[in-house]
Amino acid sequence: MPRAPLPGKVLISQERLQRRVRQLARSISRHYRGRPLTVVGLMNGSLFFLTDLVRHLPHDTRIECWRISSYQGKKSTGRLQGLDAVQGDYRGRCVLVVDDILDTGLTLWMVRRRLRTLRAAEVKTCVLLDKDVPRRKPIQADWTGFPIGNAFVIGYGLDLDHAYRTLPMIRTLEG
Ligand code: IMP
Repeated sequence: MPRAPLPGKVLISQERLQRRVRQLARSISRHYRGRPLTVVGLMNGSLFFLTDLVRHLPHDTRIECWRISSYQGKKSTGRLQGLDAVQGDYRGRCVLVVDDILDTGLTLWMVRRRLRTLRAAEVKTCVLLDKDVPRRKPIQADWTGFPIGNAFVIGYGLDLDHAYRTLPMIRTLEG
């Protein structure tokens, strides 16, 4: 069956993504050297970023996936769904939250607050993309893959109403 043409244009190629993920993993491994780490991946957006990243992290790294969402179509709803259901033993652990993109900041801010209530010893954050927009919450990621402008992006886990997640590169929707 012929495939429909993809919208927009390539913003970050598969090769650039992979190279940057390896650099991030090296920097993260250096930071946590000798300290046990739990990585919390925010689903579904960080699916590919998480799996590529953790493959380069120490073998005793624990992995948890939290299924939360705030987006509908191309807009943040301003509410975070799924956080109340999150449980687990994070007491005294170093936790690294991994997400696909930092936009309004609401997601990372609420997740970090939840982990503090669960008594994590240290909470740090790593995002693949950082959007250049005014934040709703004052938060900056500790590790960032690529700063980008204000375009809506798809691919490598990022979706538009559940479509385009499987693309191996990051694309802008328009352009
Ligand atoms: P925040 O809570 O506004 O920072 O948004 C974070 C979440 O919004 C991300 O984890 C994504 O799921 C979603 N999001 C924000 N911008 C985009 C985008 O350009 N494409 C796809 N999803 C996005």
